[in-house]
Parts: sequence; structure tokens; C-alpha cells
Amino acid sequence: MTMSRLKIMTIFGTRPEAIKMAPVVLQLAKYPDMIEPVVAVTAQHREMLDQVLKLFAIKPDHDLDIMATGQTLFDITCRAMQGLNAVLAQEKPDMVLVHGDTTTTFAGALTAFYHQIAVGHVEAGLRTHNRYSPYPEEMNRKLTGSLTDLHFAPTGTAQANLLQEGVDPADIFVTGNTVIDALLATVDPQYRFTCPLLAGINYTDRKVILVTTHRRENLGEPMRHVYQALRDIVREFADVEVVFPVHRNPLVRDVVNSELGGLERVHLIDPLEYQPFANLLARSYLVLTDSGGIQEEAPALGKPVLVLRDTTERPEAIEAGTVKLIGTDRDRVYTETRLLLTGQAEYEQMANACNPYGDGCASRRIVQAILWRKGLSAGRPGSFCRE
Ligand code: UD1
Ligand code: UDP
Repeated sequence: MTMSRLKIMTIFGTRPEAIKMAPVVLQLAKYPDMIEPVVAVTAQHREMLDQVLKLFAIKPDHDLDIMATGQTLFDITCRAMQGLNAVLAQEKPDMVLVHGDTTTTFAGALTAFYHQIAVGHVEAGLRTHNRYSPYPEEMNRKLTGSLTDLHFAPTGTAQANLLQEGVDPADIFVTGNTVIDALLATVDPQYRFTCPLLAGINYTDRKVILVTTHRRENLGEPMRHVYQALRDIVREFADVEVVFPVHRNPLVRDVVNSELGGLERVHLIDPLEYQPFANLLARSYLVLTDSGGIQEEAPALGKPVLVLRDTTERPEAIEAGTVKLIGTDRDRVYTETRLLLTGQAEYEQMANACNPYGDGCASRRIVQAILWRKGLSAGRPGSFCRE
């Protein structure tokens, strides 16, 4: 008797989902006797998604190509669901895997539910408990969690959040975050930048501040205040270089250009591919960001992070002391950045490498959990335990 293989469809659409799903896609492909992997991308992001697909040599089986300039949450949700409806009707997978908190994530989970297909949620259980911060991500996570059959919680904190919401403990697997799998496969002390700007920086003599901003709730004035604080910092500290890969959202770009354009030692560049970005992170002095993923990566590399947000669903690195939540007030951003540039003790206290988010084995645990749940493997995978 030949056993039919499990058809597992991964669905993602933005840069961070792609980076964090890539290790899972590659791991699923390691069991050709048991698993038939299918990749569907909404392409909620276009160029920023394609950069990641190229790096990890992933060729989607379905590409909905939905991105449009100035897309609204309604546009993304409707286009993604319509496209995925057709893809699921055709492929009829045994399980769909979605990742994290984007609108693609929620639309993917809801469409799978309408087809009565099991949903696995990678990076499940992160919560701020504030439905408008981050917006719409907190709600995307909660709604996706309600639609999920298998919850892959990266940490014990995320697991506790799910248990508090009444999720059956048997349906939760603590796996670590797959971003650490991707990071460990990408950072290399011997890596050489091909971009002349990054190759030309002296990372020992200069203090590189790496900056990224994109959160919807920071668009407009909050971002403007952050950039004004940065301008003051660059004027005061002659050994600082700011490297700022600017998100492709025109609403971000306009404010960045008006506040930071043309300044000496402020390098406004296009989004970097993941390999140069991760290796730049590893060589930076400190990071200012409102990104979720970078809050997870920087601690593993011992880089202090000032988080330009009022809430975070990632408290572990704050507890570990590597990350500080500072918001977007101009004076606060200036003062906290200045402190890390002048106070050696303050800097060293934060610059401790720690790995609360993963150990590089998350994608293996996720695939093991699926096989075990489907009766194709003997043991439940062990849980990830933070350092
Ligand atoms: C989206 C996610 C957010 C995630 C972020 C990661 C939602 C609602 N938001 O936010 O959770 O943290 O991605 O970066 O799911 N654009 C391009 N090319 C690209 C990507 C974006 O031109 O490759 C421009 C387009 O004009 C697009 C705009 O950026 O309309 C905004 O993209 P969108 O996905 O709506 O929001 P993000 O802020 O990127
Ligand atoms: N990243 C990248 N190039 C860049 C900026 C970020 O590859 O120019 C990576 C970063 O290492 C992290 C992910 O993109 O893995 C974070 O994406 P983003 O900040 O857009 O989204 P979030 O994590 O906030 O959802």
C-alpha cells in the first residue's frame, strides 16, 4: 500500500514572514517521502519579498502578486482572500502554515478555515494586550490564533499567553523563533559587503547606528520626531554614522527625506537584502527600530536596541536587558541614544549577547510536531528553553 504524502502549504506575503518562513520551507523539503510542500505567496510586498525568495532559492508554486502602492488593509485582505480561495480550492492541502501577524497571515488563516483546512500558526501567542498597538498586528495575531489548530509558540511567554486564552495545551508546541534559524545561517564574520558604502565604513573607528522604521502607528509625526532626534545626535557626535535602509512605503520615505535627506554621515539607502542586513546588524554599534524581527535578532548578536514603540509583544529581551522600549518622543530618543554613545557602563550593560528567542532548531521542531501530530513520527518534539 502506498501512503499518500501530507500536502503542507505555506502562505506568506511580506519580507519578515518570508525570512521567518524560509527555514520552515527548507525543512519541509527534507521529508520528500512524507511531505509534499507547496508555497503560496500573496506578494503583499513585492520587491522586499522577492529579495528573500532569491536569497533562500524559494520558487513559489503560486504568486498572487497583490501589492499596490498605497494599499489599504481592506485591499490586502480582499485580494489575498480571493486569490487564496482559488489556490486552496485547486491544491486542497492537508494543512496550511501561516506566520506571525500580517494581514496576509489573517487572510490566509481565515481562507483556510472557510475551506475547513487545518491551520498551523508559526510565531503564535505574542501579545501586547492592546488591540491598537501594534495596529493591526495585535488583532491579526488574536484572530489567527482563534482559527489555528496547531500553535507554534516561540517562547514560554507566548505559550503562557495562549494558555491564558484557553488554548488546549496539547495544541501548543514551544519551538523557538525561526528567525534565529535564518539569522544563524546568514551571519558570517568573514562576510564581505558588495555595496561600496557598507564595504567602505570603518566599523571599529565609527559608531554605526542602524535605523529602521515602518509601523503604521508611527507614520507621520512620531517618525518625524525620531528623525529630528537623530539629526541632533549626528550633529553632536562626529564619530557616528547612521545607516538607514528606508522601507519602500512612500509615507515613510517622504518624512525620512524631508528630515534627514542630504545630511553628512546619514546614509539613506534602499531596503537591504537579508544577508547584508544581518551582517550589518552584527557590525553595528546600536540599533533604533520599530521592527518586530530586529528586536529578536539583535539580542542574539549582543547589539543594544532602542525600540521606537510604546508597547512590545516581545518582552523577553527587555527582561534580559538588551532591549529598551523608548517610544518616539524627540527628547527621549535623543537622551537614550546619547546615553549609549557616552556612558560606557550603560552600553556594556545592554550589549550582552543572549538568546531568549531561539536556538536555531525552531523549524525542525515545527516539522517534527506536524509529523507527530499526523502520526508519522514517534515522539513529540522537546520544547525550546531560553538561555
Ligand atoms: C506590512 C505589515 C506589517 C509588517 C511589515 C513588514 C500589514 C497590515 N502590515 O506593513 O505587519 O511589520 O509589512 O515590513 O500586514 N511597498 C513597496 N514594495 C515592497 C513593500 C512595500 O513598494 O516590497 C510599499 C507599497 O507602496 C505598499 C506600502 O509599501 O502599499 C505598504 O505596504 P504594506 O504591506 O501595506 O504595509 P507595511 O507597512 O509594509
Ligand atoms: N531586514 C532586511 N533588510 C532591511 C531591513 C530589515 O532584510 O533593510 C530584515 C530584518 O533582519 C528582519 C526583518 O527584515 O529579519 C524585519 O522586517 P520588518 O522590520 O520589515 O518587519 P517586522 O519584523 O516589524 O514585522
